[in-house]
Amino acid sequence: MTDLRRDEIARSVTAIRRAHDGDFPVVALILGSGLGKFGEHLKIDTIIPYADVPGFPVSTVVGHEGRLLIGRAGRLPLICMQGRMHLYEGYPAQDLAIPIRTLRALGVNALIITNAAGSLRTEMPPGTLMALTDHINMSSQNPLIGPNDDDMGPRFFDMSDAYDPDLRDALMRAAKETGVDVSSGVYLQASGPNFETPAEVRMFAQWGADAVGMSTVPECLVARHCGMRVAGLSVITNMAAGLSNHALSHQETLDEAEKAYGKMSALLLSFFNDLASSAHHA
Ligand code: HPA
Repeated sequence: MTDLRRDEIARSVTAIRRAHDGDFPVVALILGSGLGKFGEHLKIDTIIPYADVPGFPVSTVVGHEGRLLIGRAGRLPLICMQGRMHLYEGYPAQDLAIPIRTLRALGVNALIITNAAGSLRTEMPPGTLMALTDHINMSSQNPLIGPNDDDMGPRFFDMSDAYDPDLRDALMRAAKETGVDVSSGVYLQASGPNFETPAEVRMFAQWGADAVGMSTVPECLVARHCGMRVAGLSVITNMAAGLSNHALSHQETLDEAEKAYGKMSALLLSFFNDLASSAHHA
């Protein structure tokens, strides 16, 4: 049964329960590149480094802290993944299911995924926030390949409305409330670790993608498979390759994410207050 990572998930759940003896939040947030600082807005009860959670692969990327925060964002109890694992780090895709299924086992029913992404549309310059309406999986991998865990979800499952329309409406309400502009669009995941070529970027744009990045899709797939609601939010940190006249770098991603950080945190805090008020998450 090791293919299903059930042992790893069980050990992760045990380690987290041992470290945090309070109630568990039903909403989880994954913080992407350069966005980990959002942790400063939480009233934190418990901090758990991924290294202390046996089944969690430890992130190797600069800008990703690698720890779980359990606490509150305003009135909303929240469990926050400060840092994530990426396919390009070389983990088997199935390992990326472990943190999401662990959250599910702890009772999480809504997953908010953030990321940094390159824009494919001139009207979405760096600094834009984009709510995901859908995605295109061009990573050539899928964490659900292999034996299906029928206790988690069905072998074949629907990906229409993978990004929950009600959560997106709530994000848009938060946008209005805070005066932060939020675009919406389709996120395409490339495998990385290289940034895309200009020819790839032109092709992705023709396919209907609006932004490109190297994460999010595996997490969304695993979360949808086990019935969680998902929202996705990209921080546009650069125009994708060929759409601007300079070379891309991870430093630019981190710098631009830092600049957009104030907007993103204002938006998320308002969004979380909205969720706290809704009966669903009370
Ligand atoms: N491509 C892929 N991933 C990214 C980009 C990009 O242009 N910007 C930030 N993450």
